[in-house]
Amino acid sequence: MSDREHETYDVVGIGFGPSNLSLAIALEEFRAKDAQNQINALFLERQLSFGWHRNMLLPSATMQISFLKDLVTFRNPTSSFSFIAYLHESGRLPQFVNNQDFFPTRQEFHQYLEWAQARVADRIAYDSKVTAIRLPPGADAERADRLRLEVADATGRTGRVVEARNVVISTGLVPSMPEGTERDERVWHSSEFLEKYHRADPGELRRVAVVGAGQSAAEITRFLYDELPHAEVWAVIPSYGYSVADDTPFANQIFDPGAVDDYYFGTDQTREAFWRYHRNTNYSVVDDEVIRALYRRAYDDEVRNVERLHFLNLSRVTGVKRVGAETRVSLQVGPDAEVRELDFDALICATGYQTMEPTGLLGELDRHCLRDEAGRYRVERDYRIVTDPELRCGIYLQGGTEHTHGLTSSLLSNIAVRSGEIADSIISRCAERAAEPALR
Ligand code: FDA
Ligand code: NAP
Repeated sequence: MSDREHETYDVVGIGFGPSNLSLAIALEEFRAKDAQNQINALFLERQLSFGWHRNMLLPSATMQISFLKDLVTFRNPTSSFSFIAYLHESGRLPQFVNNQDFFPTRQEFHQYLEWAQARVADRIAYDSKVTAIRLPPGADAERADRLRLEVADATGRTGRVVEARNVVISTGLVPSMPEGTERDERVWHSSEFLEKYHRADPGELRRVAVVGAGQSAAEITRFLYDELPHAEVWAVIPSYGYSVADDTPFANQIFDPGAVDDYYFGTDQTREAFWRYHRNTNYSVVDDEVIRALYRRAYDDEVRNVERLHFLNLSRVTGVKRVGAETRVSLQVGPDAEVRELDFDALICATGYQTMEPTGLLGELDRHCLRDEAGRYRVERDYRIVTDPELRCGIYLQGGTEHTHGLTSSLLSNIAVRSGEIADSIISRCAERAAEPALR
């Protein structure tokens, strides 16, 4: 089905985080099952090696989903790529079970992902940022059965060109900063936290502030308080206090594979209800254990008459400017929205993310992708963007489908099943395409 000399693939994945890793495994397992019907795949990743939110691999951070929601188990419980298979191979399965904990550390899960990606390494190209997806030169949308991808390395040099019958875009969430706030050496987004922290001189970090009331903010606040015993740590939180992430069993059902159908085929009111009632399973919320750890630290400080951990509640950052070596932060603080300016040695904006946005990558091709009345992509149940009927190539989304497929779109909960559905769709369309000449 493919022609490697000309770098043409049945499917090219753009971005190689957990979502496309899960897809690579689904395709690998299909390949192992069906030697006749081979699908040729390549995955392009801009990082130099595998990394899953590396800058937030804080020592005590744990996963927010059960280890059973790994890359494969919900699609294929007997897969050799499961977290349990990884533990077994690492010789830690009995010890893991003795822990009686569904939620491994993020560091251990990262090791699992690295182990899994090494087993499909021949299909991954690192240091490969996709800069554009186009129709091949001279082709028009009606006849083109391939898309052309331009790839650049870390130096920005564009060299490699790859063609694909299907692309699966999975480029992840986009960091979001408070309005009017630019990142620099002293103003960081949580997505770059550890890299920037390790570059700074800890002795110079005497007053630091963390903005936000989500999981990232709470984890970073705890980390800074523990790592910088000489420093004051200020938490700028927009709510009255951190709110707990609801992971109780009934609410957790919204992350079940079946909930995708309920969302996708539901009415507008159904979809609205998912968000209204269950946003607090994920956004602007914090795990109970981290909230209690922070409160305990603040209380212990009170007992010892130490003022090191400050909480500015009902507060938002409205601007930032540089004054000498200091970062001057404008804030609206407290119930009266008092305007204040405070100076910090570092400001960490754990202010969340925007959804995956493939428009820039699609460029000219975007006009062949259909949108709904709200201007969002129309997406089939199999995660394929609805395109002009004459465009024969598939453009699939892993991420960026909150409006059509629901809350799991940006999360790990459903990746095993979702990538299986995408693999099945690509495989069956490739088979139909292969059968076409015989039908004519
Ligand atoms: P992800 O963002 O992981 O990967 C996208 C990849 O695409 C990146 O490697 C990026 O470098 C690459 N890329 C981007 N543009 C590119 C281009 N043009 N060309 C080539 N490559 C490109 N969810 C959950 O369910 N449970 C959890 O425990 C957590 N924990 C968690 C911790 C932290 C700190 C964050 C910020 C988020 C989570 N999440 C989460 C949510 C998170 O979105 C999810 O864990 C996955 O990262 C989703 O995997 P993806 O592969 O879709 O995106
Ligand atoms: P988030 O949940 O979207 O939280 C962002 C926070 O920033 C919100 O409280 C938001 O308040 C606040 N904010 C935005 N602009 C602000 C401003 N100008 N001033 C003050 N506050 C402002 O983002 P996140 O914490 O990064 O979490 C994102 C995803 O990553 C979630 O899925 C989360 O579960 C996951 N995560 C997981 C782990 C883990 O697995 N251990 C760790 C970190 C993150 P408003 O709501 O009012 O806008």
